[in-house]
Amino acid sequence: MVDERLRIFYDLYERRKSIRQFADRPVEPEKIERLVISLGRAQSAANRQPWHFIILSDEEARGRIRDLFTKEGFKSAPLLVVACADPSQAWVRKSDNVNYAWVDVTIAITEMIGAATAEGLGTCWVAAIDAEAVKARLGIPEKIEVVAVIPIGYPEEELKREAKTRKPISEIIHHGKW
Ligand SMILES: Cc1cc2nc3c(=O)[nH]c(=O)nc-3n(C[C@H](O)[C@H](O)[C@H](O)COP(=O)(O)O)c2cc1C
Repeated sequence: MVDERLRIFYDLYERRKSIRQFADRPVEPEKIERLVISLGRAQSAANRQPWHFIILSDEEARGRIRDLFTKEGFKSAPLLVVACADPSQAWVRKSDNVNYAWVDVTIAITEMIGAATAEGLGTCWVAAIDAEAVKARLGIPEKIEVVAVIPIGYPEEELKREAKTRKPISEIIHHGKW
């Protein structure tokens, strides 16, 4: 049983890859609901949950920001999640004043991406978008920051492991000290 759980976990993260082309197929409402639950379940520093997520699932809602994508493939994604941070609600590390809002939002997005992968859905983390325009189009309050927009949908290509260009482990892991 434990082995099976391990296999499912590692298979999931080996399958995940950024998807930039989506099939012309809607995401079922029950799947959207489970993705939403995964966002709300994430851990956060001091459990502050300094986040808001805007779900754009119908044609009209998606149309509010669709033209802001620079890559064509994102424009046809049937579901967009706009992930926002509220630094005023976040935990701040006393020793150096680092605000953890973006870290917390990133954790929640990562959990949702894992859930989406398990659902057979493709995702791409999009940082390269005009955040101020997204805020204006969606009525996001001034003090809120747009961390990312995540297009989600059934992938055009199969979700499967492929050789990824990654730094060698030996370059990034330090044992004992740097
Ligand atoms: C914080 C972050 C921002 C990213 N922004 C973009 C983006 O704006 N546009 C894009 O096409 N991909 C974006 N990506 C996807 C990365 O390019 C991708 O994760 C990386 O090349 C590794 O490929 P993989 O996700 O298929 O493993 C982003 C990924 C992360 C984690």
